[in-house]
Amino acid sequence: MLLLFLSFLFLTFPSPSLSLNQEGLYLLQVKASLHDPDSTLSSWNPRDPTPCNWRGVSCDSTTGSVTSLDLSNTNLAGPFPSLLCRLQNLSSINFYYNNFNSTIPTDISTCQNLIHLDLSQNLITGELPHTLADLPNLKYLDLTGNNLSGDFPESFGRFQKLEVLSLVYNLLDGTIPAFLGNISTLKMLNLSYNPFSPGRIPPELGNLTNLEILWLTECNLVGEIPDSLGRLKKLTDLDLAINHFVGNIPSSLTELVSVVQIELYNNSLTGELPRGFSKLTKLRLLDASMNQLTGNIPDELTQLPLESLNLYQNNFEGTLPPSIADSPALYELRIFQNQLSGELPQNLGKNSALRWLDVSSNQFTGPIPPSLCEKGKLEEILMIYNSFTGQIPSTLAECGSLYRVRLGYNKLSGEIPPGFWSLPHVYLLELVNNSFSGPIGKSIAKAANLSLLFISRNEFSGSLPEEIGLVDNLVQLSASDNKFSGSLPNSIVKLDELGILDLHGNELQGELPSGIESLKKLNELNLANNKFSGEIPDGIGSLSVLNYLDLSNNQLTGSIPFGLQNLKLNQLNLSNNLLSGELPPLFDKEMYKNSFLGNPGLCGNFSDLCVVRDGDKHKGYVWLLRSIFVLAALVFVVGVVWFYFKYRSYKKARAIDKSKWTLMSFHKLGFSEYEILDCLDEDNVIGRGSSGKVYKVVLSNGDAVAVKKLWEGVKKGCESVDLEKGQAQVLDNGFQAEVETLGKIRHKNIVKLWCSCATRDCKLLVYEYMPNGSLGDLLHSSKGSLLHWPTRYKIIVDAAEGLSYLHHDCVPPIVHRDVKSNNILLDGDFGARVADFGVAKVVDAAGKGAKSMSAIAGSCGYIAPGTKRFRGFDSLIRH
Ligand SMILES: *[C@@H]1O[C@H](CO)[C@@H](O)[C@H](O)[C@H]1NC(C)=O
Ligand SMILES: *[C@@H]1O[C@H](CO)[C@@H](O)[C@H](O)[C@H]1NC(C)=O
Ligand SMILES: *[C@@H]1O[C@H](CO)[C@@H](O)[C@H](O)[C@H]1NC(C)=O
Ligand SMILES: *[C@@H]1O[C@H](CO)[C@@H](O)[C@H](O)[C@H]1NC(C)=O
Ligand SMILES: *[C@@H]1O[C@H](CO)[C@@H](O)[C@H](O)[C@H]1NC(C)=O
Ligand SMILES: *[C@@H]1O[C@H](CO)[C@@H](O)[C@H](O)[C@H]1NC(C)=O
Ligand SMILES: *[C@@H]1O[C@H](CO)[C@@H](O)[C@H](O)[C@H]1NC(C)=O
Ligand SMILES: *[C@@H]1O[C@H](CO)[C@@H](O)[C@H](O)[C@H]1NC(C)=O
Ligand SMILES: *[C@@H]1O[C@H](CO)[C@@H](O)[C@H](O)[C@H]1NC(C)=O
Ligand SMILES: *[C@@H]1O[C@H](CO)[C@@H](O)[C@H](O)[C@H]1NC(C)=O
Repeated sequence: MLLLFLSFLFLTFPSPSLSLNQEGLYLLQVKASLHDPDSTLSSWNPRDPTPCNWRGVSCDSTTGSVTSLDLSNTNLAGPFPSLLCRLQNLSSINFYYNNFNSTIPTDISTCQNLIHLDLSQNLITGELPHTLADLPNLKYLDLTGNNLSGDFPESFGRFQKLEVLSLVYNLLDGTIPAFLGNISTLKMLNLSYNPFSPGRIPPELGNLTNLEILWLTECNLVGEIPDSLGRLKKLTDLDLAINHFVGNIPSSLTELVSVVQIELYNNSLTGELPRGFSKLTKLRLLDASMNQLTGNIPDELTQLPLESLNLYQNNFEGTLPPSIADSPALYELRIFQNQLSGELPQNLGKNSALRWLDVSSNQFTGPIPPSLCEKGKLEEILMIYNSFTGQIPSTLAECGSLYRVRLGYNKLSGEIPPGFWSLPHVYLLELVNNSFSGPIGKSIAKAANLSLLFISRNEFSGSLPEEIGLVDNLVQLSASDNKFSGSLPNSIVKLDELGILDLHGNELQGELPSGIESLKKLNELNLANNKFSGEIPDGIGSLSVLNYLDLSNNQLTGSIPFGLQNLKLNQLNLSNNLLSGELPPLFDKEMYKNSFLGNPGLCGNFSDLCVVRDGDKHKGYVWLLRSIFVLAALVFVVGVVWFYFKYRSYKKARAIDKSKWTLMSFHKLGFSEYEILDCLDEDNVIGRGSSGKVYKVVLSNGDAVAVKKLWEGVKKGCESVDLEKGQAQVLDNGFQAEVETLGKIRHKNIVKLWCSCATRDCKLLVYEYMPNGSLGDLLHSSKGSLLHWPTRYKIIVDAAEGLSYLHHDCVPPIVHRDVKSNNILLDGDFGARVADFGVAKVVDAAGKGAKSMSAIAGSCGYIAPGTKRFRGFDSLIRH
C-alpha cells in the first residue's frame, strides 16, 4: 500500500531538477530585476529544467529555445531588461500595458533575432535609440502611449524589414523626417497625437508604396497635402485630421484606389471636393468636416458604397444629390452648418439603415422624408435651423430606435402623431419654434427615457395631460409661449427629477399645485403670463435649490410666503398679481423693487411699493376706496395706539414702541423680540460707544444676550440724541453693514449676531453675550493682571483665526477695517471673538479695491447657485 502511494507521488510530481538551462537562468535574472507587485512571475520556478512552461514564455518545439515572451498587461515595473537579448532565438517581446519606466537601452540592438517588439502603454521616457534600426529582422515596432521625446534618429531611414511603426501618443517634438520615406517595407505608419514642431508631410512618404495605413492625426502638420500621397495604391486608411493643412484637397487622392477611409476633418482646406471620387470604389467613410470647403456635394460620392459621410461645418451649397438615398450602406450622414438648400431626397433611409442624420443649420425646405426610419435603426434625427415644412410623418411615430430628436426652429406644423410622444428611448425631444398644434398626447406616459422636453413657441393647446406626471425621468419641461389652457395637472409634483418647469406665456389657470415642495430638484419655475389664481403655496419656500422664480402677470392672491426668504433666488418676479399683505423683511429692499411691481395690496416699508397699476382705472378706483377705508381705520388704530402708548410712557418713561418691530434672525432663536424690548433699561447698560449703547439682557430661560441700540436722529420711541443728518446716514450704513456681514458669518472667532430688530426709527442688534467684555476694557482696567501670557497668546491666535477667515475663506473677502482691542470680545474662557463690523468692507471680486457692504454681498462658504444653474442644451457642435 505504502509502495503504491510512493510510486504515485513520483509519477505525479517529477523529481526537482537541479539543472535549469541557461536561458532559464537568464530569465530568472530578468525576473530579479523587475518589480512584480502581482506576483505574475511566480510560475518562474528555478526547479524547472526549462522555462518553456513559465507564464508568458514560448519555446521552439524542436530546439526548445525561447522564441517569444508575452508579459502584456501584468503590472510589471522597472527598466527594460536588455539581458533578454542573451536569448539568441527570442523573436518576439510583448510588454504591452505595464509600468516599464526607463529609457529604451541602446544595447537593445543585441536582440539580433527580434522581429516583434511591443512596448506600448508603458512609462518609457527619453529619446528613440538610433540602434533600433540595427535590428535586421525587426518588422513590428509599437511604442504607442509612452513618454518618448525628441526627434527621429537618422538611422530610421535604414530599417531593412520594418512593416509597422507606431509612435502614437508620445511626446515627440521634432518633425516628421523625409527619410521615413526610405522604409519601403512599411505598411503601417502611425504617428498621431504627438506635439511635433510645425512641419509639412514630406513628399517622400509617397515612396512608401506598401503603405496601408497612414495615421497622422494632430501632428501639427502645415502646408498643403502633397500630391505624392496619391501613389500609395495600397493605402486603405488615410487620416490627416486635426492639423493645419491649407489649400485644396489634391485630386491625386482620387488615385488611392484601395482607400476605405479618408479623414480630413478640422483643417483649413479650401476649394471644392476633387472630381473623380467614383474611382474610389472601396470608400466607406469620408470625413472632411470643419474646413472651408465650397461648391456642391458631388453626385459621384453617391455612387460609392458609402457608410458614413461627414461634411459638416463647411460652406457647401446647392442641394444634396438625390442619389445619396440610393446608397445601400449609408448609416451616418452629418452635413450640418453648411449652406445647403432644396429638399432632402424623399426616399432617404429607404435603401440603407440610417442611424445618425444631422442636417441642422442649412436652408433645407420641404417635408421631412417619411422613410428615414424605414430600416428601424434611426437613433438621431437632427434638423434644427432649417425651413422644413409639413407635418411629422406618421412613420416616425413608430421609430422605436430614436434617442434624440431635434426639429426646432423650422416651419413644421400640424398635430404630433400620438406615438411620437411615447417613443421609449427618446431622451431629448425638441420641437421649439415651429407651428405645431394640438395637445400633448396622453401616450407620453410611456416615454420612459424622456428627460428634456422642449416644445416652446408653438401653437400647442388643450390642457397638460395628467399622464405627464408619469414621465419619471423628466428633467426639463419647457412649453412656454403656446396656448395651453386648463389647470396644472396635480401629477406634476411627482416628477422627482424635474429641474426646470417653464410654462410662461400660456393660458393656464387654477391654483398652483399644493404638493409643490416635493419637487426637490426644482431649480427654475417660470409660470409668468398665465391666469393662475389662488395663493402661492407655502411649500415653495422649501424648494431648497430653487433660484429662478417668475410668477409675474397672473392673478395670484394672498400674501407672500415668508419661506421665500430662505431661498437663494437669482431671479424673483411676482409682479402684476393681486398679492397683498406685508412684504417679508428680506424683500423689503431696493434690490427687490422690480420683483413686486403692480400688486396694489402689497405693502412694505420700502416706499416705491404700494403703487397702483397703470392703465387699470377701474381697479384704481376700487383701490382708492379701499385705501380711504384702510386709511380711516389706520387713523383710528394709530389714535388708539398713540393713546395707549402715551399712557404707558406715562407709567414707564423708557418703554419702547414694540408694535412695529421687524425681526431678522440669523440663527434659531430661543426668545422673542418682545422679551428683549422689555429689558432695555438704563439699569442694564453695560457699555456705550460712538454708535450706541449696549445692554445686557437676561432672558427668561436664564441665558444672556448683549443688545446694541444704535444712536439715531430725533425719533419717537428711541433715545433722543441730536445728530447731524449726514451722521445719521453713516450710522444707517453701519447698521446695514453689520447686519449683512455678521448675519451670514458663522465662525467660532467671530461674534455671533443672533438677530436684528428694526423700525424705521430705531435699530437693535442682538449678539451673544460675552461675559468678559472687550479686550480693551480688560487691558486697561484693574483686571488686566488676570491676563497671563498663555491667555494673551490664546486671544491673539483666536483673533487672528477670525480675521484669517474673513480674509481668506469668505467669498468675496471681507475687510474689517477697525480692528482694535475694544472690538475684540472675550467669552467665559477668554476665547476671543472679533466684533463690530460697522465699517467693514467687502473686497471686490476682481480685487479692484473695496466696495461698501450695502451693495449685494456674497456670503461665506456659499457659492451662488446661479453659477451652477442647470443647462439643458449641449454645445453647438453636438446637436
Ligand atoms: C536557436 O535556434 C537554432 C536553430 O534554429 C539552434 O541551433 C540554436 O541552438 C538555438 N539557440 C539557442 C541558444 O538555443
Ligand atoms: C520605476 O518604477 C520602480 C517601481 O515602481 C521605481 O522603484 C523606480 O524608482 C522607477 N524608476 C524611475 C526611473 O522612475
Ligand atoms: C509623461 O508625460 C506626461 C505629460 O507630459 C506627464 O504628465 C507624466 O508625468 C509623464 N510620465 C512619466 C513617467 O514621465
Ligand atoms: C534614404 O534613401 C536615399 C535614396 O536611397 C539615400 O540617398 C538617403 O541617404 C537615405 N537616407 C537615410 C537617412 O538613410
Ligand atoms: C495604427 O493605426 C491603425 C488605424 O488607426 C490601427 O488600426 C492600428 O491598430 C494601429 N497600429 C498600431 C500598431 O497601433
Ligand atoms: C522618393 O520621393 C521623392 C519625392 O517624392 C523623390 O524625389 C525620390 O527620388 C524618391 N526616392 C526613391 C528612392 O524612390
Ligand atoms: C480642431 O483643431 C484644433 C487645433 O488644430 C484644436 O484645438 C481643436 O480642439 C480641434 N477641434 C476639434 C473639434 O477637434
Ligand atoms: C436614455 O437616453 C440616454 C441618452 O441618450 C441613453 O444613453 C440611454 O441609453 C437611454 N436609455 C434607455 C433605456 O433608452
Ligand atoms: C422663431 O420663429 C419666429 C417665426 O415663427 C422667428 O421670427 C424667430 O426669429 C424664431 N426664433 C428664433 C430664435 O429662431
Ligand atoms: C417682473 O416682470 C415685470 C412685468 O413683466 C417687469 O416689468 C419687471 O421688470 C420684472 N422684474 C424683474 C425683477 O425681472
